[in-house]
Amino acid sequence: MSSGKGSTADFVVVANRLPVDLERGKDGEIIAKRSPGGLVSALEPFLRSQQGAWVGWPGLTEDSKLDPFEEDGLLLHPVMLGAQDVEDYYEGFSNSTLWPLYHDVVMPPIFDRAWWDAYVRVNQKFAEATAAVVAEGGTVWIQDYQLQLVPKLLRELRPDVRIGFFLHIPFPPIELFMQLPWRTEIIQGLLGADLVGFHRPGGAQNFLWLARRLGGVEPMTTAVGVRTKQGLVQHGDRSVKVGAFPISIDSQQFDTLARSRDTELRAKEIREELGNPKRIMLGVDRLDYTKGIELRLQAIRELLAEGRIDPEDTVMVQLATPSRERVEHYKQMREDIEREVGRINGEFGKIGHPAVHYLHQSVSKQELVAFYTAADVMVVNPVRDGMNLVCKEYVACRHDLGGALVLSEMAGAAAELTSAFLVNPHDLEGVKDAIEAALIVNPAEGRRRMRALRRQVLTHDVDRWARSFLEALHAS
Ligand code: ADP
Ligand code: F6P
Repeated sequence: MSSGKGSTADFVVVANRLPVDLERGKDGEIIAKRSPGGLVSALEPFLRSQQGAWVGWPGLTEDSKLDPFEEDGLLLHPVMLGAQDVEDYYEGFSNSTLWPLYHDVVMPPIFDRAWWDAYVRVNQKFAEATAAVVAEGGTVWIQDYQLQLVPKLLRELRPDVRIGFFLHIPFPPIELFMQLPWRTEIIQGLLGADLVGFHRPGGAQNFLWLARRLGGVEPMTTAVGVRTKQGLVQHGDRSVKVGAFPISIDSQQFDTLARSRDTELRAKEIREELGNPKRIMLGVDRLDYTKGIELRLQAIRELLAEGRIDPEDTVMVQLATPSRERVEHYKQMREDIEREVGRINGEFGKIGHPAVHYLHQSVSKQELVAFYTAADVMVVNPVRDGMNLVCKEYVACRHDLGGALVLSEMAGAAAELTSAFLVNPHDLEGVKDAIEAALIVNPAEGRRRMRALRRQVLTHDVDRWARSFLEALHAS
């Protein structure tokens, strides 16, 4: 890390998290790790190719100031959050109010006025930090649900800059959004942007309706058309564009990594370490209740119990990145998942040969690619997911046209990856059938499906996503 103090940038990304997550070691020294989640995975490679700056929280729970620093060519501007901010703005309003509300209320959202006050306060902090970093007439790209007030707040401070906003999670159905006591403020906050982007046209459509109802805007074009994928509204003396921009991954990077000799060797080694099973099933997720990990495990247990999976020749590997560990729903879910893993292994494992290998850890990108390469069936069954990048990463790694993807219809990616084994993640029997079908798919059919999936993922990468968003932002 080197200091990059005092400079301004023409292009600034603002996200709750910086791409590095800092931690204090035993002696007070700073330890840097890669931040979890799809947002960082997607944006980091793109921003590296630009001369941009990144404003965000470095993960430390400290009020003290941390100077801007450079990390591997990226200029990072830390926004510091104290313990109360982390509790009320991050764990509270962001992850116990907005996260469940925007994911179809799979858990009940909590509406707490003190959390809302913290959300306003911290959004103001981010807006001020960004205003100090962006150059005259520059471009600011604000990311995700934690910062929905920043577009309006930043515009008040810096009317000279162009402002884009992208939501990485689903935008909810109107009747769910209308539950939010602060719904008008959120819509007004987003309307501070010149362009508001979503993964799916449905999200953009919902936002346009709410903008008319709560934001007092006039529609200039009727809707998010299937062809144009963009809508336009008049907000005071400005027009605001609204559109769908499905995010993706650095497909080429995954493809190249997967083709390397080291990956091939490591994938072989993983298979050996697992006892050379005939089939490996894989799950890779942040440990989040939206990802459907519990139902996935239940499906595997029932398939084992019904003799449709033989534990002698088939194993499951579940890699789960620790996430939001102090939030109550996450604590409970972790206990439930670990109990289920124990139950499956207790019933179907043998000494030295568990049926489910479970790691509550983050692994390096190289290691992850080796797992993708080794896995015969990738199971991705979120009950709701804005996009889901894991399934795209798996596909990008399968240059051998091997492997099969089981994918939830409720992930944004399902609209693009139609050759996967698509499932309704609430239908346990359907999930079991899809896993079984993927395990026994005939090789020619498997290759046909994987070829179609790869065509989509390799031609629609993160660079294309970012460029189409920024072109729309600058075209007026
Ligand atoms: P979300 O943004 O909700 O976490 P995504 O599927 O869009 O979900 O993105 C998750 C990202 O985190 C992917 O880039 C994936 O490779 C990475 N990831 C998930 N689990 C792990 C893990 N155990 N170790 C390393 N990376 C992981
Ligand atoms: O993409 C969804 C997302 O919530 C990002 O906004 C976030 O950075 C990531 O997942 C990981 O979550 P968190 O930052 O709360 O650890």
